[in-house]
Amino acid sequence: MREEPGPTEWATGSGGGAGTGVGPWVDEHDGPTPVDPRYDPELLRDGDTRNVVDAYRYWSREAIIADIDTRRHPLHIAIENFGNDANIGGVVRTANAFAVDTVHIVGRRRWNRRGAMVTDRYQRLRHHDSTAELLAFAAGAGLSVVAVDNVPGSVRLETAELPRNALLIFGQEGPGITDDARAGADLLVSIAQFGSTRSINASVAAGIAMHAWIRRHAELAHAW
Ligand SMILES: C[S@@+](CC[C@H](N)C(=O)[O-])C[C@H]1O[C@@H](n2cnc3c(N)ncnc32)[C@H](O)[C@@H]1O
Repeated sequence: MREEPGPTEWATGSGGGAGTGVGPWVDEHDGPTPVDPRYDPELLRDGDTRNVVDAYRYWSREAIIADIDTRRHPLHIAIENFGNDANIGGVVRTANAFAVDTVHIVGRRRWNRRGAMVTDRYQRLRHHDSTAELLAFAAGAGLSVVAVDNVPGSVRLETAELPRNALLIFGQEGPGITDDARAGADLLVSIAQFGSTRSINASVAAGIAMHAWIRRHAELAHAW
C-alpha cells in the first residue's frame, strides 16, 4: 500500500494539519528558507493553505501561472453561457487540472465561480459576446472546432479522431449547444450513453471530452 501522499494530495508540512495545506516555513524542519523569486515571502511566513499541488507550495500565483504556461496544451474549451449556467466553475476546475490553454465563456460575462474552487486564478479565461465571435477567434488561432452534444448528426467521441489544435464547445443545461456552434463546427461528437437520462451534466461531459483529448494527445511524462 502506498504510504506517501501523492502530489495532488494535501501535505501536512510543518504546522499544517491534513486538509489545511502547509504551515509557515520552518528552517529547522524544512531547510534554509528559499530565496528563489518564485517563492512568495508572505506564504513562507504565514503558511500556504491553497489548493495547489505540492510542487507549487509557497510559490506566488504569478510564478505558478508562468510555469503552467510553459506546459499548456493546444486545447481550448468553450462553454455557452446565455442562461447563466451553473456548470462553468466545474469546467474551469477540470480545464485547470488538464493545463488547458484557455476557457472561453460565451454570452453572459457573469458566471458562478463557486465550483471553480479558486482554480480560475490560474486559468486563462476569455469572454466572447456571441458564438460567432468565438468561431472567429478559433479561425484566427488555427483551431479545429469540435462541438460536443448528443444531437442528430454527431459521431461517437469514443471512436472519433480528436484534432490536436482544438476548441471543444459545450452547451448549457436545457437548450444544449446553439445552432451557431453546430453550424460552425468542423466535427460534432457525442458521448455514448446507455441509461435512461437524455443527457449528462455539462461539466461531467466536458471532463469526459477533455480527457479523451488528453488520452490522445498529452505527454503523460509531463503529468504530476
Ligand atoms: C445537459 S445537456 C443539455 C442538452 C442535451 N442535448 C439534451 O438533449 O438534453 C448540456 C450540455 O452537456 C453536454 N452533454 C451532455 N450530455 C452529452 C452527451 N451524451 N454527449 C455529448 N455532450 C453532452 C453538451 O455540451 C450539452 O450541450
